[in-house]
Amino acid sequence: MLGCVGAFAAIQLIRPAKNDSPIGADHLATLYPPPPKVAKILEMACYDCHSNRTRYPWYAQIQPVGWWLASHINGGKGHLNFSEFAAYSEHRRAKKLEAISDEVTGHSMPLKSYTWSHRDAALTEAQIKTLATGRDRLRRKLSRPNEHFLQSAFADYNGEEIASAAAPAANST
Ligand code: HEC
Repeated sequence: MLGCVGAFAAIQLIRPAKNDSPIGADHLATLYPPPPKVAKILEMACYDCHSNRTRYPWYAQIQPVGWWLASHINGGKGHLNFSEFAAYSEHRRAKKLEAISDEVTGHSMPLKSYTWSHRDAALTEAQIKTLATGRDRLRRKLSRPNEHFLQSAFADYNGEEIASAAAPAANST
């Protein structure tokens, strides 16, 4: 019993590095600020694992929970990092937008283990549509690389047009 307590105490000393860099020049939000509606979804549901800045819960201080979180963050950032999105090639951005749409419409992202403890990150069907429709619009803008493509793609965004915009977008590509 004492051994267990000792081991638990000992692993507390091994802390993973914190993922808490400030928002930099290559962050999506710096170069291509999405409309508030989209920004909010990404902030609430994605940035903790897919950017260089995580909002840590208090229990991240407790090991091995902190290690487990760090492995999700490293795994997530390795695949898609919104803090570096603006530095991705056009091709890579397009691929990632595609993947975002697939992951959210397939209910694979955000991870279930995350929404279980972050109820406000569980996406509603409307939010999933918002991200998926945004993807279709962005894809059409990608052929004009110098444009602030996210900004203009979302310029005329509103909730009502989402459902009707989704169908023609699928045909036009
Ligand atoms: C708790 C951490 C976590 C959260 C929150 C999270 N992800 Fe992920 N994401 C991961 C991990 C880890 C991977 C690596 C693959 C896997 O394990 O499924 C991943 C993979 C992905 C991929 C695959 C990238 C590729 O190149 O194929 C996409 C796209 C993605 N996530 C989008 C999102 C979006 C969009 C959100 C928010 C709606 C989100 N994720 C929220 C951890 C997370």
